[in-house]
Amino acid sequence: MITGAGVSAASGVPTFRGEDGLWSSFRVEDLATPEAFARDPDLVWKWYAWRRELVSACKPNRAHEVLAAWSRRRAPRFTLITQNVDGLHERAGTRNLVRFHGSLWELQCWKGCAKSPPRWREETVPLRELPPRCPHCRGLARPGVVWFGEPIDPAVLEASLAALDCDVFLVVGTSGLVYPAAGLADEARLRGAFTVEINPEPTEAGDRFDLSIQGPAEEVLDRLDARLADSEESSSGSRFNSSQ
Ligand code: OAD
Repeated sequence: MITGAGVSAASGVPTFRGEDGLWSSFRVEDLATPEAFARDPDLVWKWYAWRRELVSACKPNRAHEVLAAWSRRRAPRFTLITQNVDGLHERAGTRNLVRFHGSLWELQCWKGCAKSPPRWREETVPLRELPPRCPHCRGLARPGVVWFGEPIDPAVLEASLAALDCDVFLVVGTSGLVYPAAGLADEARLRGAFTVEINPEPTEAGDRFDLSIQGPAEEVLDRLDARLADSEESSSGSRFNSSQ
């Protein structure tokens, strides 16, 4: 399954598109491309530092909790690919999580110096220095996220593609406009998965799914979880009865 910003909306994390979305007040070209960072790292870091502070005050909501519970119950047959960089799936305790667009809570050396690991965790809020520096070469560090125009990490792509061989592929809280993430559900469907979208609004990708459930993720997933619990209970009850 794949999630997008809508899953964190009920936690108070702004989505990207739509009236109150981040991209209605900020420009991608100024803040979320390598060119923007090369031009003005201070500005880009101010925006990421603000997002880190905002998210640090948010908590996982019912949608994150249900998905985390499913991941624990169904692992290793459950993979959650998220486009979100907010870390709320991790904080809910999700297993088998693939962070397609990286994490707000990781940094990397802007120059990719030989001594630094590809990414390292930095969860201090507020950051000790802004812009933060690579601890190895003291050059600039950058947010450990994928910016527009950048490729997806090959290992992340591989893990995501492996997860597409499944019976059911859920697409939750995403506008489905940003590729390659948006193409994953199509590929899963081609491979035979039943694809289900959960979103309060009809999306442009909507007619490509087998089923669209209209509603907020935190409500729809809560109801689905209750239905699954009921059906698991009754099927374990009937197994018990038939063996008597
Ligand atoms: P968007 O902001 O494009 O879409 C959020 C979706 O969530 C919309 O379709 C909303 O209708 C839906 N939504 C809102 N509230 C919801 C709720 N309570 N439950 C379920 N859905 C809800 O965000 P993404 O699709 O995640 O990339 O955006 C994809 C990528 O574009 C992001 O990862 C980011 C962004 O620019 C990069 O920065 C590379």
